[in-house]
This record gives sequence, C-alpha cells and structure tokens, in this order.
Amino acid sequence: MRFFDYIDGELCAETVPLRAIAEAVGTPTYVYSKATLEHHYNVLKAALHGLDINIAFAIKANSNAAVIATLATMGAGADTVSEGEILRAMRAGVPSNRIVFSGVGKTKRELEFAIKTEIHQINVESEQELITIAEIANNLGKVQNVVIRVNPDVEAGGHSKIATGYATSKFGVSPATAFAMFENAKQLSGVKICGLAVHIGSQIIDIAPMRAAYEALALMVQQLRLSGHAITRLDLGGGLGAIYDDKGEGPDLEAYGQMVREIIGPLGVKIEIEPGRLICANAGVLLARALVTKANGGREFVVIDAAMNDLLRPAFYDAYHQILAVKEPPIGANLMPITVVGPICETGDTFTVDRPMAKVNPDDLLAFMSAGAYGFAMASTYNSRPLAAEVMVSGDKWQVVRARQSYEDMWQGEVIPNWG
Ligand code: LLP
Repeated sequence: MRFFDYIDGELCAETVPLRAIAEAVGTPTYVYSKATLEHHYNVLKAALHGLDINIAFAIKANSNAAVIATLATMGAGADTVSEGEILRAMRAGVPSNRIVFSGVGKTKRELEFAIKTEIHQINVESEQELITIAEIANNLGKVQNVVIRVNPDVEAGGHSKIATGYATSKFGVSPATAFAMFENAKQLSGVKICGLAVHIGSQIIDIAPMRAAYEALALMVQQLRLSGHAITRLDLGGGLGAIYDDKGEGPDLEAYGQMVREIIGPLGVKIEIEPGRLICANAGVLLARALVTKANGGREFVVIDAAMNDLLRPAFYDAYHQILAVKEPPIGANLMPITVVGPICETGDTFTVDRPMAKVNPDDLLAFMSAGAYGFAMASTYNSRPLAAEVMVSGDKWQVVRARQSYEDMWQGEVIPNWG
C-alpha cells in the first residue's frame, strides 16, 4: 500500500504533485508519505493484536528524524545498531526504555553509552560481548538486561547479501553456545539474560522460514526453562518484506500475526519485533530528473541526475525499483527498452537495463518507487555529490525534513596539513 498515485496526470505524494516539490527543492530528492508510514505501522500493529509487543522500528532502514518521530508518536520503539542510531532515536522522541541495541560488533564506548542510557535491552551476539557488558555494567553499578541472538540455521531473504540466519553467518551464536552463555552468566554480575533474539534476513515474503526460526526459538525456551532459566523476553527480529513490483505481493501479515500468537503467544513472554523495510519502503520515492538521452550500440540510455550514491540498491543488490514518469504517459503510449543510468563514472551506476518504458525526454522527472527503506540511509557523497534533500508530505502539506547537503557541509572537517 502506498499513497503515491496519479492525480490529473501528475504523480502525487498523497495530494502533493511531485513536480511541485522538484521545482521548489530540486532533484535528486527523497519524498516520504507520512500517511503511508502510519498505515504500515497500524496494519502491522493490528495484525499483532493480543500480544505484549514492542514494535521497534529498525532505524537503519530510514534514520530521518521526521520518519522516526512519526513512528515514535504512534508508540514505536527503535531497533538500533550504533550509538549514532540510539542518539537519533532518542532525539526523535523514542523513549530509552523502548530502544533495543543490536549488532555483531559493538565498541566498549557504545556499550557504556547504552548501559548508562538505560535502554530496554542489548542483543548480545558473542560470548566475549556478554563478558564485556557485565564488566562495564559492574563498573557503573548497573545490571544490564540482555537477550542472546541465536542463529537458528534458517536461510531467508531476498538476496545472499541480506540473508543472516544460516549457521556459518557472522551473526548471533549457535543454540549450543547460547545454552553455555546462560550457564556461564550465573557467575556474572552486572548482566541479566532475559531471553533470546533471532533475525534471519530481510525482504522475506514467504513467512515459512520465520515460522521455522520461531519454532526453534520456542523449543529453546522450553529447554532453557527446564534447566531453571527464567525466560521473559523474545526478540523476533525484522525482515518482513515490502512490495517493489506493482504486481508483487507482500507478506501475509494476518498470517504472520496468527503464527506469532500460535508459536510465541503461549510462552507468556514480552515480545520485540524489529521491522524496518515493511514500514518505510513503500512510504518513500526518489525523485530524479533526466539530464540527457543517447543511443550507444543500439541501446537507448537515459542519464539522470540521481546516481548509485543516492540509491545504492540496484547497483549493490541488483534490486528492482519501479520507475514512474512523474507526468503520466498517455494511455497506450509506446513502450521502448530504456536503460536508466546515473552520472557516476562506473558502469555499475545503472538502475535498470532495457526496461520497457514510455519515451523519456531530457528534463522529464522520474520517480523511483519504494525507495523509503535503505535509500537515503545508504547514500554517500561518492563523486563529491552532496547528499540528496528529504521531504515529508502529509495530505496537501509538505516540508523539507533534511536540507540538501551544501558543499561546505560535505568537506566540513577536512584539513589540508601544514607540514612546515
Ligand atoms: N533487525 C536486525 C538485527 C537487522 O539486521 C535488520 C536488517 C533489521 C532488524 C531490519 O530488517 P528489515 O525489517 O528492514 O528487513 N540494505 C539492505 C537490507 C539490509 C538489512 C540489514 N538488517 C537492502 O537495501 O535491501
């Protein structure tokens, strides 16, 4: 579901024409729909009715303050993977007791910060990390609540670069190691293991692998309880997919909720989930303008003013994003194979090859759909291209929620040494 549609032949975000935003702010620009964010959060929340659950939005998917604040206002928590993300979450209004800190490699400084900040929990991914947390918390005179991220050996996700749940991945620990950690923690003060976490991958449409992972978790809970460990929390991770293709289908959220109620509900634990993409992917588009068109070797190229530094997913994961002309092509317009590329000096800066599209002319505006997750969040200044602007729309109103980066901001902090 997304609130980006043609109104009177013009592609709009809610009721704001994207052309108006492009004219005022320039391109490339990310445009987010507040109503779409709220819709996805509400649908997920409704599907999870009857459960004691914290929906912790995965900040890594979209860390814009306006996006986080929209969700925080609705009661969302935050799943974070760095001190920067914890700070962003709190700055945008997420209470510290709804913040989860995950990640396979956390620095001592980050751990100390998280413990001092009294966040809800730290998701521990190694035996060494557990000991480090205990030491730091002891020194601070605190007891830190943690869960152990286990690797259920389930492979899932849209691309090998985002599958995380198989046994040889860098994430989490094996169930056997997790059991050992529970035992060893009896000797550790400063840390309280409250339960387990899983996250098996991203862009998951078929929920069967999630069921397998949650069943494995439930079994571990029973075994741990039999060994006398109190299990009060489970973190079910993120990973629910979004729709990238207008014909595609998203995960069946009703079925997902039912599955969680069936497998996890009876365990009587407090639940965390960490959705990122599901909530924000369809809530954002990247707006770009065609610069030139040309034919090389019989291939029709459209060179646009957005590049892989603005939206990395096609270059990095061969990801598909629907590309819509902001001015609606006439019904029955001829489609021709078009290769859409950015201006960056490498062939990988290609958004799509020979895709059937209506003719694009220089200065035409294009919208990359479903770019709200891992779009701006993965942007860089490669080729010294400033970070794009970000805009949020609500109904017929819109606001710049992050100004386009200035050149001064881009090289701020750089120093030419004076060796003399
Ligand atoms: N929790 C953990 C521990 C994660 O590692 C992730 C994502 C999430 C939650 C949120 O997953 P989501 O609900 O968004 O699938 N850059 C890639 C996606 C990387 C996902 C990394 N981890 C992309 O553009 O497809």
